[in-house]
Amino acid sequence: MKTITFATLKGGSGKTMNTFNIAGILAESHKVLLIDVDPQCNLSANCGIDTGDAQLLTVRDIFGNLSENQPKPEEVIFKSPIADLPNLDIIPSSIMLFDTEMNMINVAGRENFLKYYFEDYREYLENNYDYILIDTNPSMSIININAFYVADSIILTSDVSTNSISGAELFCALWNSKRKPLRKENNIAALILCNRDKRANLGNELIEYSSSAEFSKDLVLKTVVPSTVKLKNTEVEHQPVNLLYPKDEIKKVYDNVVSELKERGVL
Ligand SMILES: Nc1ncnc2c1ncn2[C@@H]1O[C@H](COP(=O)(O)OP(=O)(O)O)[C@@H](O)[C@H]1O
Ligand SMILES: [Mg+2]
Repeated sequence: MKTITFATLKGGSGKTMNTFNIAGILAESHKVLLIDVDPQCNLSANCGIDTGDAQLLTVRDIFGNLSENQPKPEEVIFKSPIADLPNLDIIPSSIMLFDTEMNMINVAGRENFLKYYFEDYREYLENNYDYILIDTNPSMSIININAFYVADSIILTSDVSTNSISGAELFCALWNSKRKPLRKENNIAALILCNRDKRANLGNELIEYSSSAEFSKDLVLKTVVPSTVKLKNTEVEHQPVNLLYPKDEIKKVYDNVVSELKERGVL
């Protein structure tokens, strides 16, 4: 079982898009658990989950019940939200995660709760999943730090724009300073460039920059995900690219992303 967290410090940089579509491809041949820790709940929505449902157990029930009444994985995991991908499960997020975070501020060991949860239920998780993919929001919140800390690998995402690449660079600097006191090894393992609009002149320069900049040169994938309305449609249709466009070029792009990540040992 491998745990991978998607991260950067800029919103709208393709974290959720990449998490969703990589998960879709992996779930064709592996058992995949998604965990959505972004209170905006975009990944949960992509999977067609109604996060307004008051009965729904979410990741908030894990972080909000630190010592007792924590739901077991089989209680909080929403099984197969996408009918045609039965191997894909999700722990949804909740808009109320914001106030959960407030309650964690003064609790000892607050960076480790997700790790403890994984340890408590290791046997269940290892028996049921090959991959756990976690989607975060652009911040160094305590809940996100839990997701970075528990990860075997962190995948950075950036669209092909100066501000977005700066967000990835800033993430590396901040996580490196946070992880050292926590005795966590450097787990930043890849950078996916995405949402590239061929009409934008700066594109090539930024791709070259990320292939040579100190923070990213060993991380950046050769495959760059283009900007296409087909990817926007995956969100609307609640179907990742391999279900919605199985024969399209954009599906091959994501196949290449997955292959490169496997070659690097990230997946
Ligand atoms: N390759 C792409 N082609 C077209 N639109 C994209 C692409 N990647 C992301 N988007 C759009 O950009 C927006 C932000 O992407 P998202 O993955 O939600 O970013 P993040 O999770 O980092 O905030 C979304 O509305 C999505 O539809
Ligand atoms: Mg997102």
